[in-house]
Amino acid sequence: MTDPQLVLAECVQQALAAAFGADFSDADPLIRPSQFADYQANVAMSLGKRLRRAPREVAQEIADRLTEISPPGKTEAGFPGTVEVSGPGFLNITLDDSWIAGRATEMLADPHTGVAVTDEPQTVVIDYSAPNAAKEMHVGHLRTTIVGDALARVHEHIGNKVVRQNHLGDWGTPFGMLIEHLLDIGEEAAVAQLEAGGSNEYYQAARSKFDSDPEFNRRARARVVTLQAEEPETMRLWHIFMNATVSYFNKVYTRLGITLTDEDIAGESMYNPMLAQVCDELQERGIAVISDGALCIFPPGFTGREDQPLPFMIRKSDGGYGYATTDMATIRYRVQDLKADRIIYVIGATQALHMSMLYASARMAGWLPDHVRAEHVQIGSVLGSDGKMFKTRSGKSIKLVELLDEADERAAAVIADREYDDATRAEIAHAVGMGAVKYADLSVSHDSEYVFDFDRMLALTGNTGPYLQYATARIRSIFRRGGVDPAQATGPIVLGHPAERALALRLLGFGSAVAEMAEESVPHRLAAFLFDTASAFTAFYENCPVLRDDVEETVRASRLALCALTLRVLETGLDLLGVPVPERM
Ligand code: ARG
Repeated sequence: MTDPQLVLAECVQQALAAAFGADFSDADPLIRPSQFADYQANVAMSLGKRLRRAPREVAQEIADRLTEISPPGKTEAGFPGTVEVSGPGFLNITLDDSWIAGRATEMLADPHTGVAVTDEPQTVVIDYSAPNAAKEMHVGHLRTTIVGDALARVHEHIGNKVVRQNHLGDWGTPFGMLIEHLLDIGEEAAVAQLEAGGSNEYYQAARSKFDSDPEFNRRARARVVTLQAEEPETMRLWHIFMNATVSYFNKVYTRLGITLTDEDIAGESMYNPMLAQVCDELQERGIAVISDGALCIFPPGFTGREDQPLPFMIRKSDGGYGYATTDMATIRYRVQDLKADRIIYVIGATQALHMSMLYASARMAGWLPDHVRAEHVQIGSVLGSDGKMFKTRSGKSIKLVELLDEADERAAAVIADREYDDATRAEIAHAVGMGAVKYADLSVSHDSEYVFDFDRMLALTGNTGPYLQYATARIRSIFRRGGVDPAQATGPIVLGHPAERALALRLLGFGSAVAEMAEESVPHRLAAFLFDTASAFTAFYENCPVLRDDVEETVRASRLALCALTLRVLETGLDLLGVPVPERM
């Protein structure tokens, strides 16, 4: 355990037990960063009430005991800092430099860099990306893709078993007209259009014939029937359509360094054969009932207008299945077949009601047992500068590959003054462009809306991808210039300057930031931690020369070790977020 906040929490809990008895050891010590010391513990205020004593007195008693406590994992005995009672009963805690330096040196020697790897791996199923084949893959899907991929990376990193599920919208009535349109324009032309990301134009062309041409309309409807029956020739055409579409999705994934592969595709079509059985079973068991001809589940606690119970409809009155039916099948499959301990749905915030009704319905059915955690990581909308859903300047929707092209071009402009050959320049521009787009999605809380703004996300200062990439590349250049391999910079770390101390103290929080991101599905907290780390490094680098001739040998070794630890934390952290780091920048 390296995070000072966790170490201090444990020390204070021990002190509480020593002072007031074991009953009090589970009180939250309320450790917070402090203006006047490294941390403050606010527990005496709430405990004063419980003990009916003055908080200041309680605080003094904790302080007296605290100085006798040895923190976990520390060999030498004694509390590694000073404690002061202040104000109405705050405990101000300042850690010893030697303790901070010792933990930082240990962290550098730890192959996991202070990240706890679990010895009880959970199976974590993550549903993310999930674009629709019949419609365009839009910026909203980009965000669920980027956030979901970061969550997949972090769970793998901490030792969990991750099962990625790309729940493609690849089935349903629109595919009748999509397949007929494919026959009309010819397989080759259709494939070329779809592979280039033209699904929207394709869909619109099919749709307008469907609406205006009775003969096409009849064919499309007939095609839905043969598709539902999985008639071989129809399936062949469906596969042609899907393969071309997926090949476009893969282009976007590759460009962005998304870890999804074809193996992870588990689209709506996969569940099609299960739907009848899902409905039959739920109906037989009385979980679902017929209401106005439709088969519905009424999970408790969901009401609509005039307090009417809200239906979760799994079969329409015309016998058709819908989104809810498929999602009931996904839950059952993920629990029973994939053996999920935790299921994370990374999906638009607008689907919040659907998701909570789904979980409630699945709990009723016994398909989502209590020990399986299901959560909806709600993704907020990405807006244009006009505050509406992001499209393009002309108001037309934009192809994602074109958006990524624009990111590359703009990133190239940002680094235009650098003296690199064309190939290196293109490589850097690509990393910066993709890093900027990805980091913009990851640095704000996943459920908040934000305005898509190239200028802001590409800025070299502030909480942006390029700033963190630049900070990382700059540390690499220190090692290049010094002719030192970062792996050889092992310290020991000794702290002299306040900027060294602040950086080291910050670095110790890395393991907690990673754990928190995995536990609470909050990539933006890790992003904020990395940004704070890079800022602390900037202050350190401005104040503490590393390679200058007049720097004493032990100081140089310590500062190189701090650089190496910062580099490892930034590289690992950015990799967990899926943000690439160019070698130089
Ligand atoms: N294809 C859906 C959409 O674009 C998202 C599917 C999410 N996953 C799920 N199991 N419902 O809105």
